[in-house]
Amino acid sequence: MRAFVLKSYAHPSKLSLTTDFPEPKAGPQDVLVDVYSGGLNFFDILQCQGKYQNQPPMPYVLGAEFAGRVSANSPIPKGCKLKPGDRVFGAAQGAFGEKLATPWTNILPIPDNISFDQAAGLFVTWPTSYEALVGRAQLKSGEWVLVTASAGGVGIAAVQIAKALGAKVIAAAGSQVKLNVSKEYGGADFGVDYTKPNWQQEVLQITGGKGVDVIYDPVGLIQDSLKCIAWKGRALVVGFAAGAIEKLPLNLVLLKNISIVGIHWGAYTKKDPEHIPKVWKDLIALLSSGRVKPVVYSEVFPFERLPDGLVAIEKRQTWGKAVVRIRDESVMARL
Ligand SMILES: NC(=O)c1ccc[n+]([C@@H]2O[C@H](COP(=O)([O-])OP(=O)(O)OC[C@H]3O[C@@H](n4cnc5c(N)ncnc54)[C@H](OP(=O)(O)O)[C@@H]3O)[C@@H](O)[C@H]2O)c1
Repeated sequence: MRAFVLKSYAHPSKLSLTTDFPEPKAGPQDVLVDVYSGGLNFFDILQCQGKYQNQPPMPYVLGAEFAGRVSANSPIPKGCKLKPGDRVFGAAQGAFGEKLATPWTNILPIPDNISFDQAAGLFVTWPTSYEALVGRAQLKSGEWVLVTASAGGVGIAAVQIAKALGAKVIAAAGSQVKLNVSKEYGGADFGVDYTKPNWQQEVLQITGGKGVDVIYDPVGLIQDSLKCIAWKGRALVVGFAAGAIEKLPLNLVLLKNISIVGIHWGAYTKKDPEHIPKVWKDLIALLSSGRVKPVVYSEVFPFERLPDGLVAIEKRQTWGKAVVRIRDESVMARL
């Protein structure tokens, strides 16, 4: 099969497509999936350079997020309600290959109104943002939310989920294009360019001096954002896209009676597995309703050009979810 196979550590720009890699074999709890679209992530860039925590023995197929169909020759383990041909999405090592094997408990059916390209970037970003806002920050209708990196993978999902919950959303991003995306595709009410000095003053002005009730921060801008948090606000620590793990003077927490709240979605698998299906039940209902729409970057990268997609992420050029098209559904339908 065709796949991006890691044989030795390399910068993503040096990767090339292998055309004859053996197809995966299914384990006892696995289904086989024909992959149609793959979601690109910053950690893919780290993985191919040996800088990521998960480093399987080489050679192995890169990629983590995918959408596709249960293969015609897939075994169906006991308890699995899926059948060959079903549209599914999930996360498993090997997403950047034409076929993968994954435990059936790791995949979900794609709602009818969601395309393969959209579904390829759902599995990590959407439950992260949903659990952050709903489970951790207990966001209420009518509250003000500030989302940093608002056009990024988790950010644009957070903007849409907050809007669907009835919040007023201020998008903060690093360019006018990304602010436009946050408003046009995300539905953000206001946009603020956080590369400009004193951007927090703009947020205070927008909120009538009150500040925001909830900060959703995947960048590492908590301390900066606290300049515009409201009394008793909640600041969600989602990630450190800017590279540095923030340290915080705790007097800032005391002075405004605020809460600093962490979210690590991946940890729920071990710490709170019963909660995961509840989040997905709510999210699938929300996605199926059409009130939110996963946002895919304007250029869907053809399979051979996957390295260009990873380089674009590295250069901070992409918005929404960057996606690689591995099989074309219309071509498959004609076969
Ligand atoms: N806590 C969890 O469970 C969880 C789950 C998923 C992801 N995350 C984390 O959330 C963060 C964002 O993930 P994502 O998928 O949304 O990434 P993404 O789509 O690549 O977006 C990241 C955005 O961060 C902004 N940014 C600011 N400074 C940056 C810098 N120095 N380098 C690169 N980007 C910078 C950029 O937006 P601007 O150009 O607008 O500044 C960029 O588009 C990552 O750190 C990821 O590990 C956490």
